[in-house]
Amino acid sequence: MTIHIDPKAGKGTISPLLHGQFIEFLGECIDEGLWVGTDSAIPNTDGIRTAALEALKRLAPPLLRWPGGCYADTYHWEDGIGPRDQRPTTYNENFGTFELDNHGFGTDEYLHLCETLGAQPWMNVNMLSGSVREMHDWMEYCNRAEPTDLARRRAANGHSEPYGVRYWGLGNEPWCGGGNMTPSSYMDLYRLYASAMPSFTHSNDEPSMMYPIACGPDGNKRVERVEWTRQLFQELASFRQPPISAYDLHFYNWNIEHPEDSSTQFDQAGWTRVVEGCLELEDIIGEQWGLMQAGLAAMPYPEAAKDPRLESVDLVIGEWGNWHLDAFEVRPALRQQVTMRDAVTTALTLDILQRSCDKVSMACNAQTINVLNSLILTDGDATILTPNYDVFMMYQGHQGAQALGLDRQDSQTGVYSFASLKDGRILVDLTNADMTQAVDQSLTLPVDARVEDFHCLTSNDPHQFNDKADPNAVRARQVGLDASTGRKFTVHLEPASVNTLTLSLV
Ligand code: AHR
Repeated sequence: MTIHIDPKAGKGTISPLLHGQFIEFLGECIDEGLWVGTDSAIPNTDGIRTAALEALKRLAPPLLRWPGGCYADTYHWEDGIGPRDQRPTTYNENFGTFELDNHGFGTDEYLHLCETLGAQPWMNVNMLSGSVREMHDWMEYCNRAEPTDLARRRAANGHSEPYGVRYWGLGNEPWCGGGNMTPSSYMDLYRLYASAMPSFTHSNDEPSMMYPIACGPDGNKRVERVEWTRQLFQELASFRQPPISAYDLHFYNWNIEHPEDSSTQFDQAGWTRVVEGCLELEDIIGEQWGLMQAGLAAMPYPEAAKDPRLESVDLVIGEWGNWHLDAFEVRPALRQQVTMRDAVTTALTLDILQRSCDKVSMACNAQTINVLNSLILTDGDATILTPNYDVFMMYQGHQGAQALGLDRQDSQTGVYSFASLKDGRILVDLTNADMTQAVDQSLTLPVDARVEDFHCLTSNDPHQFNDKADPNAVRARQVGLDASTGRKFTVHLEPASVNTLTLSLV
């Protein structure tokens, strides 16, 4: 069989925000990982580990979510501003972290990092142990241009200009650690928080610059996730609607029911289970999108003709990634190694998000450093880039491109593919998810194209990983291909490999 790529079959623009990242105060994601502090012996740039910062600059994540996750629901933002030697010490029990928390990396450090990386910040508000006033003041501190006390505090802390933070998550996973709420109790609280958000406009006609994100369901619960969305939109349709821009679905590819399987030890069955597990997200997106549209169709028409009717809410995925059993057992908490099994699922998940660009507006990999589906692992003073880092780098060219309509999988070779078009260049993802067998894959186009580049990420052994002793054991490499021009190409795909082929239209 062949993969046919039609450059005219555009399916919509791939928002760069689909390639977002997520950092949280869990394990060594931030403290000891990204943030080492200014007096650390580890080379740092204003407290941020320089090697990680440089890697993130190359990656240029378009979106960075912070401070959680579940941590956000215990976070009091004022603990993390002002002179660092005067910040309080608290205790962080979240997700097995069990560490002192000295709040060295707070709002200004985070927003400065976003500015350095060119990333949009997505901040999550504490709806569990916080208050409406605390949320309101945090937003004022970040965004108020007028010289209020909070704006002056921000200026005193080094940033006189407002940061202009647009994306705000209201709560986190309220169906579990975020309060064990029901759709109805969450919506009661959501209405208060969303209604109290400042707009940062200067006339009643200007739309608010703020983008409130409501909590969507646990994507891993087949029954509950349907009920959560159905009931939440029913609650939303009752009487008047609070501001709501987006709805945040979380989905983890759980691999925790097989004690013999770990992030680095797995057999063929474990390989297949995890690869197939990540594909479920595509159906869940379709299901949740459908439920949201049904919920929106039932929104009431306001009595006053001048009042707008709520007609759209964006679907976002604030957390996705593989979650292996050993992440629960290790110190630092939630750290897991990354092999080609994770790189393959990371590639396939990005393909799903890109293919779903007409439905999903933003998404964040959980998480960037030292936690779960990491791009970067640190080990003392060593900073190691995982195979997942390479996947995100190989996929950068999809940001802002037109998604092309392609079958998800070649029925004969089993190869998964996705393609996009930007500025006359087609970037084709080709993932051979077979753990042991290489394959020759043919591709056809209706017009002439020239091979510009072919990158392959694989390893001799799919259990291999990068660590301090061998930081580049699994690394993407450019493969020499004939710079041929034509309408038909055949590429050799190694077993357990993620590949990208760049073609330019001639
Ligand atoms: O990413 C780790 C945790 O997983 C987050 O804190 C929480 O939102 C989710 O359950």
